[in-house]
Amino acid sequence: MVLVWFLGLAAVATVCRLRRSKTSSEKKTGSAAKINEDLVAYSSQIICIRRAVESEQENPLFVDPLAAVLAGDYEGDGKRSPRISIRTKYFDDFLESAVSTGTVKQIVLPAAGMDSRAYRLVVPEDATTYEIDQEIVVETKEKLIAEASEAFVPKCHLKRIRADLNNKNWGEKLIEAGFKPSEPSVWLLEGLLYYLTEDQVISLFQTISTLLTEESTLLASLTRGSRKDNRGKRFNLRIKACISVLSKLSVRFRDLTSSVSRCSMADIDKLDSKRPATAPSLTSKFKWSCDKPEEFFSSLNFTVVDSVPVGSEKANYGIWNRPDVSSVIYVSMKPRTGD
Ligand SMILES: C[S@@+](CC[C@H](N)C(=O)[O-])C[C@H]1O[C@@H](n2cnc3c(N)ncnc32)[C@H](O)[C@@H]1O
Repeated sequence: MVLVWFLGLAAVATVCRLRRSKTSSEKKTGSAAKINEDLVAYSSQIICIRRAVESEQENPLFVDPLAAVLAGDYEGDGKRSPRISIRTKYFDDFLESAVSTGTVKQIVLPAAGMDSRAYRLVVPEDATTYEIDQEIVVETKEKLIAEASEAFVPKCHLKRIRADLNNKNWGEKLIEAGFKPSEPSVWLLEGLLYYLTEDQVISLFQTISTLLTEESTLLASLTRGSRKDNRGKRFNLRIKACISVLSKLSVRFRDLTSSVSRCSMADIDKLDSKRPATAPSLTSKFKWSCDKPEEFFSSLNFTVVDSVPVGSEKANYGIWNRPDVSSVIYVSMKPRTGD
């Protein structure tokens, strides 16, 4: 009971801190009114607020100046998400390295969501970033950027394509936008594949493979292992987290009560109505995970070059060191030619 009360106070304090930290100019009331009706589309903003939070850290892994704008009305819980921060940094570095020699000038981001890499990565000026996403996401993104008080200018050419990746015509739309399948490209499927069924993933890769040269590279984040298999690990993690919270509570209690004492009644009244919007369960929308990426992608004529669990040495940046419990991996692959 005491624990529940403490956690309630912690939640109030967190919301109050967050409300104080977001300026009114960052709020775009009404502009993203429809995107939140579809949780998968809305996930683009739910992830984006985490990049905004990372950007505000004392020593951030990256700074994404557009993230607070593109998160729209979604405010989240204000907490840093090490896994999303690591994911962003890992793929930022990979993409920058892929285009650094100047031979690859096409960057394709299927399910780009609120990605702002075209505005912030170091890429050749004559490169083109192709962002593909659902109509509602692209429309919301363009509106938020247009309404932003600051002018944001892409660092390379940028094309946005409104398309359903489950409809094979997205490849034609990409080509209509200027993409050249005969030239090398680098692709990033970040935060997408687990929202698709296996058949949809297969169909997506079949279309992608018609658009690649042998020098092209494809990156993806995916989950391995079934949620059932990971249950034990998640349970242990939660127990450890509870023990850690309890041991810190006595120290934090004084700070907590002082934060709460600064809350207004209006802040507290809004807490309940905020809760559903601040903690939607994205995993409820997950449909696919992959136990053996090497085998799976090999059957689709791709060779997995590297497979990196989040939290492992190559992907922790000193902020989340848990390769043993992570079910998320970053995979880089090349199309297999000559079969
Ligand atoms: C979790 S967000 C990831 C966005 C971005 N890649 C990132 O990491 O921040 C998932 C995105 O997948 C997009 N998406 C899911 N299914 C899609 C489909 N069939 N066609 C186009 N986009 C889709 C959603 O609209 C959403 O923007």
